[in-house]
Amino acid sequence: MDSIIVRGNGPLKGQIPIAGAKNACLALMPATLLSDEPLTLTNAPRLSDIRTMSELLASLGAEISTLQEGKVLAASCHGEINPVADYDIVRKMRASNLVLGPLLARLGHAVVSLPGGCAIGARPMDIHVDALTALGAEIELKEGYLHAKTRGGLKGATHEMRFASVGATENFLMAASLAKGTSVLKNAAREPEIVDLATCLRAMGAQIEGDGTSEIVIEGVDRLHGATHPVVADRIELGTYMLVPAICGGEVECLGGRVDLIESFCERLDAAGISVEQTKDGVKVSRKNGRVRAVDVVTEPFPGFPTDLQAQMMALLCTAEGTSVLEEKIFENRFMHAPELLRMGANIEVHGGHATVHGVEKLKGARVMATDLRASVSLILAGLAAEGETVVSRVYHLDRGYERVEDKLSAVGAQIERVKAD
Ligand code: UD1
Repeated sequence: MDSIIVRGNGPLKGQIPIAGAKNACLALMPATLLSDEPLTLTNAPRLSDIRTMSELLASLGAEISTLQEGKVLAASCHGEINPVADYDIVRKMRASNLVLGPLLARLGHAVVSLPGGCAIGARPMDIHVDALTALGAEIELKEGYLHAKTRGGLKGATHEMRFASVGATENFLMAASLAKGTSVLKNAAREPEIVDLATCLRAMGAQIEGDGTSEIVIEGVDRLHGATHPVVADRIELGTYMLVPAICGGEVECLGGRVDLIESFCERLDAAGISVEQTKDGVKVSRKNGRVRAVDVVTEPFPGFPTDLQAQMMALLCTAEGTSVLEEKIFENRFMHAPELLRMGANIEVHGGHATVHGVEKLKGARVMATDLRASVSLILAGLAAEGETVVSRVYHLDRGYERVEDKLSAVGAQIERVKAD
């Protein structure tokens, strides 16, 4: 397995381009199952999770081609569709569950394996099942597979989710777009990736209003057509690279970034003493003098502080002046990076869903192990600020969500290299 070696070398300066959002693209790609005409996604990120979704869609009968070095994905689903999403592919990535809604809408039946993905909590499927059941699906769990069917197709309905699940909102949106009649989803997730999916579905002919709020209204249509849609910029990649100058000093402009997609995070950076500015090309971040101030962080559904930036923020707070408390309210087991940061000299105590970080003046390079996608990059950030060499192993997690991380960081002056496994 590949490793990444990072050597802390002081302030970094330059520009980093932000890719299309992984999480938006993973929801947009299954929308191809809803139409027999082609769906073209521009600004797609080049990531292993995107390749896994392509593999899954191909196994269901879609034809996927990647153009312009993988930045454009063209998907078409005009032939026969296989309703079975097999365990061998689905286990690689939780977002595979996003084929359930579209398959049900297009075929009236589907068999989808329970998903895998980062081991950051239980991540059950009950909210998806309840949402699709409200639209008239009958769903049973048999031998690790969800067996779903409808009697005469999906029917519009009003449903309130017990929690604003991102994936369940996406499945509901896609399914309700082809259901008969009007659907209303209450307590819907409001993440920018949902708005991006709704925008794409509208371009395909869907009638959706209220995305970006907690109540979405969908008027079902008989068929959807093809469309071309640009994937929204990745706010999590943006936040991650905004932390580079915050943690090592210097100034970095993240090209294509939008602060309006990441306001709660920017507000915490401001409280920590980091300057953030929206420029015409992106987001410029700088830290000039002195140590960062400790701040408390609570992760919440959008527009709250994103759980997907909690690990990276913890890396920053390890060297802050004072004590910070991070509360994780989305995933119960999302502090696996803490023991690795301890190996680098951090002072962190974890109690259930809270982590208390007592800032230290300097981190020290160490051999550490990536445990999930965002944890991996938090260790790289910590390595950029540490004295000496940090070796991060198991970086396959990183490749699921960050394209060319070592190239992007080298371009702003970081000493970082990938060591290929034999
Ligand atoms: C998506 C993101 C992920 C992000 C998360 C929260 C993608 C591909 N992934 O994941 O990066 O961290 O949103 O912002 O977009 N839950 C249930 N039952 C369900 C579904 C979810 O209990 O049926 C729980 C989960 O265990 C978790 C919480 O709800 O504790 C949030 O999950 P959800 O919003 O569904 O996240 P994902 O869509 O899986």
